[in-house]
Amino acid sequence: MIKLPGLIDPHVHLREPGATHKEDFDSGTSAALAGGFTIVLAMPNTKPPIFDAATLDLALNAARQKARCDFGQYIGAGPDNADIAASLSGTAAGLKMYLDSTFGELRLDDMTLWQPHFEKYPKTLPLVAHSESRTMAAAILFAAIYDRPVHIAHISLKEEVLLIKAAKEKGIKVTCEVCPHHLFLSKDDIPVISHGHPGRGEVRPRLSTKEDVAALWQHMDVIDCFATDHAPHTIEEKDSDNPPPGFPGLETALPLLLTAVDDGRLTMDDIFVRMYTNPKNIFNLPEQPETWVEVDENETYEIKAAEQFTRCNWTPFEGWKVKGRVKKVVLRGKTAFEDGKVLAEAGYGRNVRG
Ligand code: DOR
Ligand code: ZN
Repeated sequence: MIKLPGLIDPHVHLREPGATHKEDFDSGTSAALAGGFTIVLAMPNTKPPIFDAATLDLALNAARQKARCDFGQYIGAGPDNADIAASLSGTAAGLKMYLDSTFGELRLDDMTLWQPHFEKYPKTLPLVAHSESRTMAAAILFAAIYDRPVHIAHISLKEEVLLIKAAKEKGIKVTCEVCPHHLFLSKDDIPVISHGHPGRGEVRPRLSTKEDVAALWQHMDVIDCFATDHAPHTIEEKDSDNPPPGFPGLETALPLLLTAVDDGRLTMDDIFVRMYTNPKNIFNLPEQPETWVEVDENETYEIKAAEQFTRCNWTPFEGWKVKGRVKKVVLRGKTAFEDGKVLAEAGYGRNVRG
């Protein structure tokens, strides 16, 4: 048995308010605990999006009543809410900027709309950018010009990891995360994931080439965090004519990464640093006293969507054999998960910016 700290996932979509048939703070934080996470930071592309005091309250009230692990809620950067967002920074997890298209309506096309956010959001708190390829280069240029930290969400390309490496060498305050699906899957796997339903392979950023995947592994030292980008959509939605992009990830991330440790592709310290130390520092998160995760590093099992707590009822890793199972999670002195059962009550979770 190995003991890990409570893990931190700085990038999840818990769908509340507005799409609780996909997930809510209850099912999403149950999935988090089952995956070894004790803090999740929820994205703002909900319905309505979280962009001002009233919508932030909506999400935080739901979280206070339903979350079973600790949580934070991002505020979304809109075309005209830079002052409001900065004024709410004390209670929000951070500011999320959507600079490329994805699920939801929060997208800032025009760079004049980026500027007030880079200027006004407190420099001690994270500004997280969904920015791919050349848009990512622009986001890093903004970080340099406004001399503030920017965290690049879900990098997936060789050109991205190489540019971040170069930017870090120049002293630009850029950090980044990579998702397990961009480390363990490439576009070549889409037919296997799809089972005849191409929508199941849809995710943003898209699955990339084998060469991109190899570059992420090769430059692991450039990657600050592992984040799931847990993006649940129901199997019916994924298999529809208009499939939304996104993969669930909370319950598969740690077992996949532990399996990579067993294969000699990662060390336990690689996991510790990217799922605890770095996210805690980058996102300025509080200590969780008496909190830990117990993992049986020798238990092998098959990933099955039917056994997951997420409401979306599918996983791109169905049938994968993994080695390393979360047995127990203790959160602030209380056993929150044990032997496949979530024991923390709805409402036990606290706001990390509380
Ligand atoms: O695939 C994705 N799904 N990428 C995103 O950036 C958003 C997410 C979602 O909310 O479904
Ligand atoms: Zn996301």
